[in-house]
Amino acid sequence: MEICISNELIHLRNDRISYVMGISDEGFVTHLYFGKRLESLNTVNIYRRFGLPESGKITLSGCQLDPSLNGLLLDRVPQEYPSFGLGDNRQGSLTVMQEDGTTTVDLRYVSAIVTEEKPKLSGLPATFGTNKTLLLTLFDALLQLEVELRYTIFDDCDAIARSAVLRNKGKQRLVITNAMSLSLDMPDANYDLLTLSGAWAREREWVRRPLVFGEQSVSTNYGASGHTTSPFLALLTPGTTETQGEVYAASLVYSGNFYAGVEVDRFRKARVRMGLNKDGFAWQLAGGDTFCTPEAVLVYSAHGLDGMSRQFHCICTNHLVRGQYAKAPRPILLNNWEATYFNFNEEKLLKIAQTAADVGIELFVLDDGWFGHRDNDTSSLGDWTTDLRKLPDGLPALSKKIHAMGLKFGLWFEPEMISPDSDLFRTHPDWCIHIDGRPNVESRHQLVLDLSRPEVCQHMYNAVARMLTDAKIDYVKWDMNRNFTCIGSSYLRRDQQMELPHRYMLGLYSVLERLTHDFPHVLFESCAGGGGRFDMGMLHYMPQTWCSDNTDALCRCEIQYDTSLIFPPFAMGAHVSAVPNHQTGRITPISTRGKVAMSGCFGYELDLNKLSADELEEVRKQIRFVKAHRMILLYGDFHRLLSPWEGKDTAWMAVSPDQKQAIFVLVRSHATAYEMPPLVKLQGLHPAFVYKIQETGECYTGAELMQFGLCCPLPDGDVASVSYVLEAVTEGEDQ
Ligand code: GLA
Repeated sequence: MEICISNELIHLRNDRISYVMGISDEGFVTHLYFGKRLESLNTVNIYRRFGLPESGKITLSGCQLDPSLNGLLLDRVPQEYPSFGLGDNRQGSLTVMQEDGTTTVDLRYVSAIVTEEKPKLSGLPATFGTNKTLLLTLFDALLQLEVELRYTIFDDCDAIARSAVLRNKGKQRLVITNAMSLSLDMPDANYDLLTLSGAWAREREWVRRPLVFGEQSVSTNYGASGHTTSPFLALLTPGTTETQGEVYAASLVYSGNFYAGVEVDRFRKARVRMGLNKDGFAWQLAGGDTFCTPEAVLVYSAHGLDGMSRQFHCICTNHLVRGQYAKAPRPILLNNWEATYFNFNEEKLLKIAQTAADVGIELFVLDDGWFGHRDNDTSSLGDWTTDLRKLPDGLPALSKKIHAMGLKFGLWFEPEMISPDSDLFRTHPDWCIHIDGRPNVESRHQLVLDLSRPEVCQHMYNAVARMLTDAKIDYVKWDMNRNFTCIGSSYLRRDQQMELPHRYMLGLYSVLERLTHDFPHVLFESCAGGGGRFDMGMLHYMPQTWCSDNTDALCRCEIQYDTSLIFPPFAMGAHVSAVPNHQTGRITPISTRGKVAMSGCFGYELDLNKLSADELEEVRKQIRFVKAHRMILLYGDFHRLLSPWEGKDTAWMAVSPDQKQAIFVLVRSHATAYEMPPLVKLQGLHPAFVYKIQETGECYTGAELMQFGLCCPLPDGDVASVSYVLEAVTEGEDQ
């Protein structure tokens, strides 16, 4: 990995990718190339493609129709951090208003330095680890605004992490109304755009469409990254499949309102942008102030979507998740939510926990309903004290009893919320996000705490920290169940109100940073009404996310399959639940429910005491299997094999890093008559290794399994499944 800086070019590269930018005579920083590694670059060709003079000379006053007449307008220049107002009329990366009300920004190159130590992105989650970072400084002399563009390149992942740091070096107050994390000007627009859409219980469904003229984007302004889409996009060369084609993709390390989009211009070139959603956003930058954009991770794959996911998974595994649970086995848990909902007492919980301990479960999680007087979702958020009607001996006593069974003990919190029916609200009615004079809009009977207020953040920290200490908590499910409305803060100044959504995120991140630092042994699982805040930002603090409130095995095939585009299995919470499924009413075999759940952080969400002896035996078998194979299931190279969107079969596999072990799973949505068993081409195996399939005793070379495929007879019935463990028995010659 190296970053080479010459007079005119800056070239970041590792063994596989290159990212090249140019510096023009006039100080404009151009984007020249991102993709497969280049040894050298003759820029004439690139300048020609963009209609630039071959010298690369860019002047501000030009002729729109014929650049050779008199310089050139910025309108066609591929730029690293384009702004509006100087002639580039495409969507920009930066808009800043000065005191006279004008919004033009003119950034010119000042310096480029390389650092081995990646500077912290103040208050924000970001990638870390062995890497090199380019700090590229630009300056607007009139605004006295310095913009430091940061580019980090990694040895082990084909990714560039980007962010921008804005510093007001002058005296006048500036207002930032748009500050992207990433802008990428492509030389053409011949791509499909892949984004994720969805809803509660249907998170992250993929949407693939050819780029067309104009802007196409996804964004949220819920206050969270949201259920309906994800801070992610990918450009795919035509015909790209799982294993073939070039992919340029980006994912934002942020959990709040975001924008991710592409604009195709009149020259049929695509500009990708990603960052904070500028709708509803305005940030006061007084003289001497600094503002950091969130970080965006840009990846390149020459090997289709599988290659793209490999890079994102590499970033998540090696450069994003921290703490003692990173790269460590995750405990098999039992969560009482779907087993009891709010209707439990200590006796009922202990009975479920005892059976859990008997079958080999390692962690018992007490979900919603243990605090205040919460018998349903209408009250008590904010009152994080034990409901002694349900747990008369208190939570510490329950925790002790659970621990005595040999189980770890986990607890549900929804710390960012406040119920109007709570002591906290009665004491501090102004602590919620609200607008004076407007009635509060409740959702799930609750309001959102105003985390722009330091005392609210402190209170939130204290409430959670006290419980973690008093009750010896080993795991926290950190939930967040509603979006923002009536966005106002009685703490912020009038001119800061549009800072609230981002300040909220900064407040949340500061609390998470403290809690994860002060309670390093606690495993945190992020949740937002299921997977409503599944993003790289939360993953920096919490190594796993509850994928969806939908626990139906068939729906989970879709949700987990699509989630795996960005996130590895260790990031996805997945549970076996009861049938008929509580979200869909579908009845599926327990073996299939187990196989689907074990492709994530495995657990159960049902009352084991209601299972038959046969089902309980199957549970024991599943737990033994997960304990034996969880490192491959969680951390092996994950490959999608058959898509649930393309047929009735979904298949995937995980391969150990040394390629000596693999686990394969196939699920068929519905039975059909008079058909051959499915044939699936495996991936990621060593072609010359001979693999023995444990379940059948049959042996095949990796080459056969990848080139001809594996034929998988399925049991009868709907939602049937099969799984195989493959072990390399001999290592043949390399082919
Ligand atoms: C959210 C979560 C669920 C459960 C409930 C409890 O919906 O996603 O898993 O914890 O809250 O109220």
